[in-house]
Order: sequence, then structure tokens, then C-alpha cells
Amino acid sequence: MARWALDDIVHVGRVASRAFCPLQTASTDVTGMRPIPVSDRLIVALDAASIAEAKALVDRLGASVSFYKVGLELTCAGGLPLVEELVAKGKHVFLDLKLHDIPNTVERATSKVARLGVRFLTIHAYPQTMAAARRGAEGASLYLLAVTVLTSCDDADLAAAGYAFGTKALVSRRAAQAKAEGIAGIVLSPEEVSDVRVEVGPQMILVVPGIRQSGGAAGDQKRVMSARDTIRAGADHLVVGRPITRAPDPEAAAEAILAEIAAAQA
Ligand code: C5P
Repeated sequence: MARWALDDIVHVGRVASRAFCPLQTASTDVTGMRPIPVSDRLIVALDAASIAEAKALVDRLGASVSFYKVGLELTCAGGLPLVEELVAKGKHVFLDLKLHDIPNTVERATSKVARLGVRFLTIHAYPQTMAAARRGAEGASLYLLAVTVLTSCDDADLAAAGYAFGTKALVSRRAAQAKAEGIAGIVLSPEEVSDVRVEVGPQMILVVPGIRQSGGAAGDQKRVMSARDTIRAGADHLVVGRPITRAPDPEAAAEAILAEIAAAQA
């Protein structure tokens, strides 16, 4: 069962503030808003090679996981029907498509995504793109997440692409622009969370990949942090892939991370 009733959901077009939003941080709950349930803070990245593999993983994780991220690869492998299946099962879905195109195309694509019933959709944090996506999401129970600067880019990559800003300055500028545009949240790396939380305040949803269990393998992630430290730094949702999907017992790995999250917000 979905944890949030439909009338609980304030769609992104109406949310200048998240006053009635169910996805609040524990820290904002003091203002009378509900905290995020622990199980909804963990988003498992379904980075599987095929739909069959992804479905097997969802079956294996069962009730322990309520939120999944479906990315570009699985979407291109025929993942949209799987997204609809997950939504029908009462799971929350983060569709990580990182949209960026001319405003008309972004607006229309966003409105199509909104009809799938997914919870989060990523877009690049260009003012034109964000404004278009917001129009496309109007009236829908969809939260838009802005990608500020891809973590694969460093200062030299930005300079080569013609930007006058380094990564830190550009992340900060785009976070402010996303907020001004009424975008619900941002995707960012663990090491940026505490600074960006201070910059954008308690209202924006911060979604953070690059999470590793204490003592776990980092894989190709360079900037990793534990679930506990990332929640304490001010994250709302953690995106976790391989530490769960490649674990010998994925369900036990998910439960261990959920326990860390619970301890962090206790
Ligand atoms: O396996 P791992 O836990 O590293 O997976 C993290 C997920 O978050 C992957 O789907 C990855 O593509 C995604 N992601 C990321 N870093 C970003 C944005 C997204 O790791 N900056």
C-alpha cells in the first residue's frame, strides 16, 4: 500500500512551500509537518541489466523496500511498464531521466511522466528547463528534482564546456535557481549536503546517492558517506544501489541501512 494518500500530496505546481507536503525532514516537523517515514527515506537504485533482473530484485526485497529509482538504462530497456507495475504495487518510484531539451519538449515529456504516477523526476537545473518541467507537472502528484552539476564533471570539464563557474559555485547558483523556480528538490553528493542544506533551508528535498555502509566497498564512487552521517547532515532520501543490489542477502543489506537511518533520526 502506498504510504501517502492521494489527498496528502501537494503537487509541485502548487508547492511554493512544502507546508502540507508529506516528504518533510525530521527537522521541519517541529513546524507541525510530518516527518518522512524511515522506509521512505531509502531509495534503492534498480540498476539491473534487464527487466527480468529488476523484477527479481524487487520480489526479493519484498516489503522491506518501498521506494525505487529507475534510471535511463532500464527505461531504455523497456522499463516504463515496470515503473507502472511498481506504482500499481504501491511502491514509490524515482524516475531518473535527467530531462533537458527545449521548453516545449520538456513540458510535454514531464506531463507524460506525471501520468505514470511516479513520485520524483529529475531534470537538469537550467532555469528554462526547470520552468518548463514545472508547467508540465502542474496538477500532478510529482516532485521535480534538479540535477545541479553532474558529479562526473570537475572544474576543468566545466571550463571546457564554456562555463565561467567552478563546480562549487555552479552547484550553489543552480540550487538557488531551483529554489527560486519552485522546484521541490535537488540531487547532490554526500559531501555537499550540509552546505546546500544551509543554503536552501529546510523546505527543499535533498536526495543523495553515494551511500556506503560503514566499512563497505566504495566501488567507483569517490565521494561516499554512511547512511547515518548523510541523514545527520540533512539529507531527506538516500539512493543506494550496489551495497544492496549486489549484496549476498539484499534484504538483509536493505534492513541494515534502514536501521542506520532509524538510528540517525532517533
Ligand atoms: O551502486 P550505487 O549505490 O553507487 O548507485 C547509486 C545510484 O545513484 C546509481 O543509480 C547512480 O547512477 C546514481 N547516481 C550517482 N551519483 C550521482 C547521481 C546519480 O551515483 N551524482
